[in-house]
Amino acid sequence: MPLNLEHLIPEHIRLFDPYRPSPPDAELMRLYGLKRLHRLNNNENTLGPSPAVRELLAGLEAGVIPVYPHGDSQDLRETLARTLGPDRSQFLVGNGSCELISSVVKAFCEPGDNIVTADKTFAVYEWVATFSGVEARLIPLDRDQRFDPDAMLAAVDDRTKLAFVCNPNNPTGTYWDEATMRRFLDGVDGRCIVVADEAYFEYVERPDYPDCIRLLDDYPNLVVFRTFSKMYALAALRVGYLCAGEAVTDVIGRAHVAYSVNTPAQMAARAALLDRSPFIERTRAMVRRGRELIRETCEALGFEHIIGEGNYVMIRTPISDTLLQRKLLRRGFLVRTMTGFRFPNWIRVSLEREPVLREFCSVFRSLFE
Ligand SMILES: Cc1ncc(COP(=O)(O)O)c(C=O)c1O
Repeated sequence: MPLNLEHLIPEHIRLFDPYRPSPPDAELMRLYGLKRLHRLNNNENTLGPSPAVRELLAGLEAGVIPVYPHGDSQDLRETLARTLGPDRSQFLVGNGSCELISSVVKAFCEPGDNIVTADKTFAVYEWVATFSGVEARLIPLDRDQRFDPDAMLAAVDDRTKLAFVCNPNNPTGTYWDEATMRRFLDGVDGRCIVVADEAYFEYVERPDYPDCIRLLDDYPNLVVFRTFSKMYALAALRVGYLCAGEAVTDVIGRAHVAYSVNTPAQMAARAALLDRSPFIERTRAMVRRGRELIRETCEALGFEHIIGEGNYVMIRTPISDTLLQRKLLRRGFLVRTMTGFRFPNWIRVSLEREPVLREFCSVFRSLFE
């Protein structure tokens, strides 16, 4: 039977160029003849998960697996409420915060609407908008590689439903301080929903960095996204959450798939929140040390670099980023090429444990010296 696919596909899907994930480790290792591979491409925390999570997962009963999870992650939302302050009805849990990005776009946007964000930021905001038939207005970062609040405000019009602010920004590590965040929210004045994506919240140690959950009472159009994939090191389990005013959370919940978060993920996320070990402190120390090692290496080579908040840094390379990625892969390190992030010939490197990063720095130097 002939299938006229073209006839069935909306134009925004036909034109969309999908993301292609890197191959599994085993395949990369075979292709590059490697005995081990260090992934420095996804900003994971290989120090984790924390002791309480390890214990929980080791003792997980097989009996939980045939049973559906809580459809709305109630126990986890209760723990989030007790840990962070807002009511449990204000939280929505997703299969990673990527699923929540999709839910917030579905809940508020229809074709003809637009979202406003930056041109050099986490690409999923743009992708979800584009494959939903929604215009993504990508505002250039300012001279200091920060989201540009005035230019973003100027781009907001009566079809703007969402503004995404990645704080701190992936990949530049720059952030808006509380005064800038409030100024932006005052400027928006409730005309659209503002999403503060705080995927790297737990890594930021600056006193002027805003905890946007504390701003929710002042701004009913604010939505805060966080994830268990980064600091809490639960990336494989896929669990993230949002917090907003109850009315906004309720609207997003209508467009959100129930039962999308599995039971081990819900249990591990609770254990991660309740863990009182010094795991987060140890991770922050690891990241501080990582920044020093990369800074020393870039300064020795005279390479431009951007070291901000979060567990990642950017390095400008004198050769093509894809060529450099391949050269580093041959030596057992996978980094993120940045041309796709509109930073041609930059790479992003996740900050790993010191012995791994020392080896990375020595390999990196040997390629250029
Ligand atoms: C800024 C930002 N937001 C969201 C995510 C997605 O996280 P999750 O694993 O919760 O889907 C990432 C992951 O890299 C990120 O960098």
